[in-house]
This record gives sequence, structure tokens and C-alpha cells, in this order.
Amino acid sequence: MKQTINVVELFAGVGGFRLGLEKANKQLFKTVWANQWEPSKKVQHAFDCYTHNFKEGYASNEDITSVPDETFQNLNIDLLVGGFPCQDYSVARSLSKEEGIKGKKGVLFWDIKRVLENSHPKYVLLENVDRLLKSPSKQRGRDFAVMLATFRDLNYIVEWRVINAAEYGHAQRRRRVFIFAYKENLDFAKKQSVHSQDELIYEKGFFAQTFPVQREAYKNRRMSVTLPEDIVDISDNFSFEFHLAGRMEKGNVHTIHTIPQLQRAIPLGEILENEVDEKYYLTEAQIEKFAYLRGPKKIERTSADGHKYIFSEGGMSPVDDLALPGRTMLTSEASVNRSTHIVEIDGRKRFLTPVECERLNSFPDNWTANIPERMRYFTMGNALVVNLVKDMAKTIEKIESLEQVTDTQLELHLN
Ligand SMILES: C[S@@+](CC[C@H](N)C(=O)[O-])C[C@H]1O[C@@H](n2cnc3c(N)ncnc32)[C@H](O)[C@@H]1O
Repeated sequence: MKQTINVVELFAGVGGFRLGLEKANKQLFKTVWANQWEPSKKVQHAFDCYTHNFKEGYASNEDITSVPDETFQNLNIDLLVGGFPCQDYSVARSLSKEEGIKGKKGVLFWDIKRVLENSHPKYVLLENVDRLLKSPSKQRGRDFAVMLATFRDLNYIVEWRVINAAEYGHAQRRRRVFIFAYKENLDFAKKQSVHSQDELIYEKGFFAQTFPVQREAYKNRRMSVTLPEDIVDISDNFSFEFHLAGRMEKGNVHTIHTIPQLQRAIPLGEILENEVDEKYYLTEAQIEKFAYLRGPKKIERTSADGHKYIFSEGGMSPVDDLALPGRTMLTSEASVNRSTHIVEIDGRKRFLTPVECERLNSFPDNWTANIPERMRYFTMGNALVVNLVKDMAKTIEKIESLEQVTDTQLELHLN
């Protein structure tokens, strides 16, 4: 019986996916190859942090688009993981027949596809901003449909779910879409196929097992559609409203606006450090600046083509509420920006410390301590809530154990 699930981690950042997998079961999940490269940066801080924390397996610090296909052909992988950018996934037919379909250059989803074509992992787990489901604004849902059709053509079944980490017991109100794909020929796929699409999304599927939802659709938002066969046709003409949860098998899509079964979140106040260096406290000038940034405003601006318009934004509370889980952390956390967290303790306002940012994402304290402080904030803004991955890894482990048993044992296990 196979003892490990071999993992490739793309767009690895400081290793949130790998950490989550290892928190679930370090013996089972073995990251054999990882890639992280920050475009046009001489010093590769995220990569340095990754290799400082993880010594096993091969870590590549190259532009993923320049890694040759053979590298992936030589990898024997079971699981591909990665958090990749939301870009333009439109495709066109190439002039030459051999080349087939062409996506835009520099769009990193095509490198995910390349890894799948060259190494055929059983499972894929990806993360993206939830906007991916609606992009681009002029042809809503096109990019996600192109992505689903790509998986369909490679014989994968796909489930997705938008998850707000705070709704499932974590310390940050971070909403991201997670995408889990698995090969159609797995025993797990066979077992799943006895359930209806509704049952799979509400109860039996990968995400329903990991992050339970209520058995009803919000405002009855439930839709089905069959993706056109031709991916160029999808790219040119297809538009659809993908809801928060869904499933695609052989091009048949079913999507539901699900309602989470809420778990108690960790409030921001609970993850703060007790003793904090003076440098994290705001000066008078900073207090004034942040009061302005977070306040309501109406400003006259001039657009690039010269016409004047009123930019307005509503006010937000002057400091973050310690009784609530933290707001989403962005890569701009270390800059003077209205989204930067400000907490008030004993009447004094201060920034979050790097350790507190790590805690918002359930990384261990000082995970990023070997890189400059500014980059500690930046990498945490890019990272994910590690314990969500840990939860999903446990479900993958369950699925994998089904793959390892005989059909009779499987019946017994499932009944
Ligand atoms: C959203 S972040 C992923 C963060 C990661 N999940 C973590 O826990 O830290 C995407 C990462 O992709 C990297 N990246 C961007 N373009 C890349 C490329 N062409 N090749 C390799 N990595 C790239 C970025 O530097 C960034 O660290």
C-alpha cells in the first residue's frame, strides 16, 4: 500500500498550502517539488522564507513559465496545490492546427494546465480570489468556465466553494474560492456518482464534508448549465452566474448559493500579543492620517480623458473591532492605507505586529522572521488561512484511504 501523497506546490509563497497539509498529516503529504518566483525582484524574500522553513524536497526559484515540460514529466505526483492570480483566461484558436488553442502569454493558469498534462495528478487543490467566479465584468463567468472546461477536457471532476475563513472558526474574514479537482476514474468519483448534484453540494461532496452548509439555497439561487464543447466558443460567447458552491462533471455544471453552518470565529482581540514594541504605536501624525483615510470622503478628481468626477467612499470605524475576527489582510498591510489594521489597546492606537499577522492566517509565530519586516506583512497579505488547508487535507486523506481499499471494504466503509 502506498504510504505517501506526493505533492507539487506552485506559486508557493511562504508555503501556506504545504504547512496546512503537513499540519494535517506530515507523514502522508510529501512535497516533492515546489516553485516560487517573485517577478522582477532581485531578492526573493518569499522563496527565502520557504526554504528556511522547509528543507525537504526540491524548491525551484524560477519563473514557472520557463520550467520545461520534462521537469513535470519526471515528477510522479498525486496532488497539485497552489494559489494563483486571477488573470484573463480568454483563448483563441491558433493559426497552426498542431498548436491547438492558445491562451494569453504570462497567464499562469496555463502553467497549471501544463503541469496537469505532463504529470496527471489524481487531485488538484487551488485557491483564488472570489472575483474569479465573476470575471471579466463584461462577460461574467467566462474565465471560470474556461477553467472548468480545461479540467473537463483533462478528465477531472471539479468542485468549488467560496469560503470566508471566519465562518469556519478562524481569525480572519478572508473570502477566497477554493477549487478541488479529482480524476474521473477514482473510486471516490464512482462512489460520489450515486448522489444527486444537490446532495453532493449540500452534504456528500468534498467541500460539504469539510465545511458543512445548510440544506437550502440562499434566496433559492440554484442553477445548472452544460458547458459548450468548444473552449473557444466558451471564451467568445459564454456567460453564466456561478454561485458560491458548485460542481462540474463532464461539462455539466450545478451551482448553489450555499449558507454555511457557522462555527465560532476567533476574535481579533484573542490573537493579539501582550508586550508590543513602541515602534508599532501610531504617532500623532499617523493618527491624524489614518483618521482621514478611514473617514468618509467626497473628492473631485479628473479622469485620464480629462473629465471631472466625484470620488466618494463611506467611512469605516477608526479602529478595528477586537470582538470580531480580523478584516482581510492585503499585501499593502505595511503601508499607509485605509485597509491597514489599526487596533486600540488601553486607549492607544497601534498597528498589528508581524506575529499577529501570522496568527490571522494561522501560521506559527515567527514563520517569516528571517525576512525583512516589510516583507513579512507583504507575504502574509499574499498567503492564505493555513488551517483551512489543514481541514481540506483531512478530507483528502479520507478520500485517499478509500482509494487504497477493495470494493467490498469500500461498501462496508461507506455503509
Ligand atoms: C497568491 S500568492 C500565493 C501565496 C501562498 N499560497 C502562500 O501561502 O504564501 C502567489 C505567488 O505566486 C508567485 N508568482 C507570481 N508569478 C510567478 C511566476 N511567474 N512563477 C512563479 N511564481 C510566481 C508570487 O510571487 C506569489 O508569491
